[in-house]
Amino acid sequence: MKTYRIAVIPGDGIGKEVVPAAIKVLDQAALLDGRFQFEWTIFPWGCEYYLETGKMMPDNGIELLKQYDQIFLGAVGMPNLVPDHVSLWGLLIKIRRELQQFINVRPAKLLQGLPSPLRQPNDFDFIVVRENSEGEYAESGGRIHSGQDEVAIQNAVFTRKGTERAMRYAFELAKTRNGHVTSATKSNGITYSMPFWDEVFTQVGKEYEEVGQASNHIDTLAAFLVMKPENFDVIVASNLFGDILTDLGGAIMGSIGIAPAANLNIEGLYPSMFEPVHGSAPDIAGQGIANPIGQIWTGKMMLDFLGYQDVGTRILNAIEQTLARGIKTPDLGGAATLQEVTDAIIDYLT
Ligand SMILES: NC(=O)c1ccc[n+]([C@@H]2O[C@H](COP(=O)([O-])OP(=O)(O)OC[C@H]3O[C@@H](n4cnc5c(N)ncnc54)[C@H](O)[C@@H]3O)[C@@H](O)[C@H]2O)c1
Repeated sequence: MKTYRIAVIPGDGIGKEVVPAAIKVLDQAALLDGRFQFEWTIFPWGCEYYLETGKMMPDNGIELLKQYDQIFLGAVGMPNLVPDHVSLWGLLIKIRRELQQFINVRPAKLLQGLPSPLRQPNDFDFIVVRENSEGEYAESGGRIHSGQDEVAIQNAVFTRKGTERAMRYAFELAKTRNGHVTSATKSNGITYSMPFWDEVFTQVGKEYEEVGQASNHIDTLAAFLVMKPENFDVIVASNLFGDILTDLGGAIMGSIGIAPAANLNIEGLYPSMFEPVHGSAPDIAGQGIANPIGQIWTGKMMLDFLGYQDVGTRILNAIEQTLARGIKTPDLGGAATLQEVTDAIIDYLT
């Protein structure tokens, strides 16, 4: 039997509640399948660690993480005690960048039993592939002068290597799904980076003639995702555009508490990191009412990445059946606790 060694960073707030719930589901799924098992190692890093030590993770944290197959993260953030830029850059961004997790993947799907805020949604199921390391979020620029003379410059950096990598991943993913890639562009307004983005999309697209291809300006694309989300399969986007589109995807699914995400090192050189889209939700932390579905679905993405798509599909079915039976946490208008939702998903799996 194959054993996967997983580094677990529950983090702060509801991260400490939803991660153990998802681990229970994943362990049960592994037990039922019989081909593999997980060995979980918990790292107590995050804002409490920062308040004790002045660091979000130890200096050798990245080296420690490299020894594991994958990373399973909850959420970090205690905004009342630690500034968000400290918690974000000291842990999440550091891991994503130093472990070369260049691709961020976030699915959006109309789930059975979960009303979308869209009035009459058709059955949508799309995935946004976001370039995760450069683009508009590159650390390039500066500020000079002060007062009325102050100038801020932020450079967007698009490398051929990074852009091609994101596009190739999107095309490969589309081949395993409905065979269509849409590129999010803005070459009618952004004069250098986006025409370059379009050129690379066309060039890489020539290697994938069997895959349908389209290019939409980001503003039109955002509108289409509200009006006709069922028309999309895989969307490839720059760091900023992908960031915005994935929140839109989470919103039309029904709640931020269910949206999953993966930061992938597609070469397999270092571990990838699987984390839900939501944050540490300090407003509901410790009450036992956090929605565990985002974290559990994130676990399904980890199974998919490890090659157990069949097991992942079983977990997603169990989530949908649980929602369809009306077992929902308060963020989805239900009255169930985190424990009750987790137990129902495990029951259905079993
Ligand atoms: N990946 C991450 O670790 C991550 C992501 C986003 C925000 N954060 C951090 O989390 C902290 C809080 O940020 P925020 O309030 O902007 O975003 P948030 O996602 O934590 O919460 C936004 C709202 O959604 C609700 N919510 C979120 N997840 C939920 C769940 N699983 N079940 C039920 N309700 C849920 C919260 O109660 C809150 O009302 C900040 O410190 C922020 O920096 C971390």
